Amino acid sequence: MKKITIAIDGFSSTGKSTLAKQLAKHLGYVYVDTGAMYRAVTLFAMQNNCIGIEFLDKDKLVNSLASIKLNFKFNPELGFAEMYLNDVNVETEIRTLEVSSFVSTVAEISEVRSKLVEQQQEMGKEKGIVMDGRDIGTVVFPNAELKIFMTAGADTRAQRRFDELQAKGDNVSYEEVLKNVVERDYIDTHREDSPLIIAEDAIEIDNSYLDRKEQFDAVLELVNEVINTL
Ligand code: DC
Repeated sequence: MKKITIAIDGFSSTGKSTLAKQLAKHLGYVYVDTGAMYRAVTLFAMQNNCIGIEFLDKDKLVNSLASIKLNFKFNPELGFAEMYLNDVNVETEIRTLEVSSFVSTVAEISEVRSKLVEQQQEMGKEKGIVMDGRDIGTVVFPNAELKIFMTAGADTRAQRRFDELQAKGDNVSYEEVLKNVVERDYIDTHREDSPLIIAEDAIEIDNSYLDRKEQFDAVLELVNEVINTL
């Protein structure tokens, strides 16, 4: 069967990665979470005093980019690939609210974006890939055969992220999480380089009131429609 490229973009905590993982598993495709790559660069920036509260040393971070190695390694027990920063598994560390609070600032830096976009395009050369992020259908794979754009209300998304963090034992308030979601929406949609916008040929899905199965079934139908036209 012919393999396609599936681009999934949208706001934070819209369940993009859940959907992308389900699709990749079902289709036998590679799944790439590009948010994890921006998060790993952010973690590097935090560890190396390039970013802190109301402080960003952009030049230092840009000059260090060549020494940042990012890899995904498949974890068969979890059934998905985990993020490695310079050969260290950072999958848990990159999901904290602290990383979330700095990541949009790091993702605004053009030099960071071009490094990651290049690596993402390389990973997708053979097709058979589901990639999620903010600029996948617009910048990384403008020719993707299927583009999905996911939205949901900010309160629904904050509640989802809050539940996830609580389940991991992260002691945060719902208000802090909501504030982070709203701030990231603003920065992601207003940045100069590759702002989060819906690609002209993307299909928008608001999943505020869809459960995971309904959403998966709807998107799988779209995938099959696309594959049948090839
Ligand atoms: O998907 P996520 O919430 O883990 O993404 C974290 C941040 O990374 C998000 O606020 C914006 C940025 N990002 C981006 O700018 N471009 C991408 N392709 C993916 C993520």
